[in-house]
Amino acid sequence: MDIFYKALLWFHLLGIALGGAASFGHPVLGAIAQKTPEARPFVMRAGKGLSSVGRAGIAVLVGSGVLMVWLAWDITAMSGLFWAKMALVVVLVVNVVLAGRAAKALAGGDMSAAARLPAHGMIGVALMLLLLAFGILAFR
Ligand code: HEM
Repeated sequence: MDIFYKALLWFHLLGIALGGAASFGHPVLGAIAQKTPEARPFVMRAGKGLSSVGRAGIAVLVGSGVLMVWLAWDITAMSGLFWAKMALVVVLVVNVVLAGRAAKALAGGDMSAAARLPAHGMIGVALMLLLLAFGILAFR
C-alpha cells in the first residue's frame, strides 16, 4: 500500500469520525430539546453546526472512497457487499437531505416537522452502524 493510498484511508477514517459525530450527536441534541424546551434555540444552532460537520464527513468519505477504488480496486470485480455499501451511502445521503429539510421547516415555524426529526436521527445512527460493518466486510 503506497503512502498516497494510506493518506486516502486516513481521510476515510477522518470522514467516519466527522460523520459519526453528527450521527450520534443529533439524537443527544433531540433528547435535550425534548426535556429542556428553553434550550431549543441553542439546540437548533448546535444542530446546524453538527449538520455541517456531518456533511463535510460524507464529502470526505465519498471523495476518499472513490479515489481509493479508482487507484487500487477493480470496479468490475467488486463484491455484492461493496454494492450494498454503496446503496447504504445513497440512503444516507437521502436521509441527510430529508432531515435538513425537516430542520429548515422547523426553523420556519412548522412544528409538525419536529416529529420527523427523531426518526431521521435513529435512521442516521442505524445507517452509520451498518456502513461501518459493510465497510469492513466489503474489503477484507
Ligand atoms: C459514506 C459512508 C462510508 C462509511 C461509513 C465507510 C466506512 C468504511 C470502513 C469502516 C472501512 C474499513 C476501513 C479499514 O478497514 O481500515 C472502509 C473502507 C473502504 N471504503 Fe468506505 N465508507 C463509506 C463510503 C465509501 C464510499 C462512497 C466508497 C467508494 C466509492 C468507499 C470506499 C472504500 C474503500 C476502497 C475502502 C477500503 C480501504 C482499505 O481497507 O484498503 N467508502 N469504509
